[in-house]
Amino acid sequence: MPDGPAIACPYHGWAFGADGRCRKVPQAHEPLRGMKGGTTGHHAAERYGWIWVALEDPIADIPDIAEAHDPRFRQIDEFHEEWDVAGLRLMENSFDMAHLSYVHANTFGILEEPRPAPVEIEHTPWGFVMRGEAPVTNKGLSKDLIKTDSERTVRMIEGRWFLPFLRASRIDYPTGLTHVLVTAATPVDDRRSRICQWVYRNDAEADAPAEKVIAFDRAVTIEDKAVLESSTWDVPLSMSEELHMPSDKPGIEMRRRLAALLAEHGEAEARLPQEA
Ligand SMILES: [Fe+2]
Repeated sequence: MPDGPAIACPYHGWAFGADGRCRKVPQAHEPLRGMKGGTTGHHAAERYGWIWVALEDPIADIPDIAEAHDPRFRQIDEFHEEWDVAGLRLMENSFDMAHLSYVHANTFGILEEPRPAPVEIEHTPWGFVMRGEAPVTNKGLSKDLIKTDSERTVRMIEGRWFLPFLRASRIDYPTGLTHVLVTAATPVDDRRSRICQWVYRNDAEADAPAEKVIAFDRAVTIEDKAVLESSTWDVPLSMSEELHMPSDKPGIEMRRRLAALLAEHGEAEARLPQEA
């Protein structure tokens, strides 16, 4: 860790090193010697315009999001706020193809076509990649943003799940538009999470203003938030305490991987669910 100041308080300018020790007090007459106090130092890094913190030694890298390094894509920061939801609930929702027609009927879902298309899952060391297609309606703001007059279109989805609570869902449209939703849930306590969301798009601000992109994604997000915040926060990892449909495969895989991770780190609450 560097010895010099790493961060300074905006109130009186006290500066602290990466180890949390106070390095500088501008008001002091004497150079600091053996000063007590300070704060706890944590691993921290800046990536994608966000600060990533590991409270203990990290067990994985910061997720690599390919589109962030691709000059054809621009980044739009959407929101960060607290929700009454556990991380796993949000993650399984992000890969649940069965709720699109119902929960999102007012934004892009097709209520009359509730049967979800099958998905394929490719396992990776950091989580999984889910691939599938979803027919969707194209109306209102969405029509403006996807740039097609057709009343329907199709989302070709490549959802990447990064253990434990981050997803980067790439949606390719037949028009050539690509929209990548990145959503991360940082636990605040057992029942609440801080949700950060940003997106990558391969179109221009003049064609799809960030304000409209945020407004559409916001409308979709609010539909999810309403059902998620009314769901049970204590998500069971076992397969016997909740009923699952075949389309819950991604959520089941998440439970299996999380249980394995907990077991690997000696957490007593780890109970391995049966294979899906
Ligand atoms: Fe949703």
